Amino acid sequence: SSSPKPCRAVLAMAGSGKNGTNESITKLVSDLNSSTLESDVDVVVAPPFVYLDQVKASLTDRIEVSAQNSWIGKGGAFTGEISVEQLKDIGCKWVILGHSERRHIIGEDDQFIGKKAAYALNEGLGVIACIGELLEEREAGKTFDVCFQQLKAFADVVPSWDNIVIAYEPVWAIGTGKVATPQQAQEVHEAVRDWLKKNVSEEVASKTRIIYGGSVNGGNCADLAKEEDIDGFLVGGASLKGPEFATIINSVT
Ligand code: G3P
Repeated sequence: SSSPKPCRAVLAMAGSGKNGTNESITKLVSDLNSSTLESDVDVVVAPPFVYLDQVKASLTDRIEVSAQNSWIGKGGAFTGEISVEQLKDIGCKWVILGHSERRHIIGEDDQFIGKKAAYALNEGLGVIACIGELLEEREAGKTFDVCFQQLKAFADVVPSWDNIVIAYEPVWAIGTGKVATPQQAQEVHEAVRDWLKKNVSEEVASKTRIIYGGSVNGGNCADLAKEEDIDGFLVGGASLKGPEFATIINSVT
């Protein structure tokens, strides 16, 4: 990437469906509030919906909060869904869309994810747009095809790229302890940036933050962060431990 990005980014999922209790999240917020964090790193945490308001209210303003999902359009009678309007109401600035668990376990397709992204962006939320291949797709040599197709589904519908962070998360690396090597991750990040250059614009390609997710931890973050096109991380398991999460945040400079 030639031009500097506005700010490096680290985004954490502080708990998914299986992670996070009132007690653990209160402790995590307190750890994060007392951590020393590099100033030029954007930090966002994405607790499960039930804790979002509490985290937003108790976390220092230094750190933004993100939802892990949002509804495809204006709020209404969609029992069990959370609307973009409600997220904005509690001061939430971001939403993660297209996470591999939403794609592969819940069954969301590109079109559905695209609708959510377009709506959220139009309403002023930032979108952490996730892409990434399954192990069998990688083994079949389809990594770029899969990532580009998922990227195109976003590119086809989003009103602008100003508020999008792309998260490359190879599915085989998520929660498995099998982190992509810096070279494997860099290769895809570079290809994604190149795709943006050819299909969106040179400016968007150079400004868009492309973050890596999948078994990032305090021990492997520094080597990944050295790669030219890795602008930050989407952290799962390691974001549940405040001091380790701070180490990861501070590796991204
Ligand atoms: O979205 C973050 C998550 O998918 C990565 O999880 O536990 O492999 O860091 P983990």
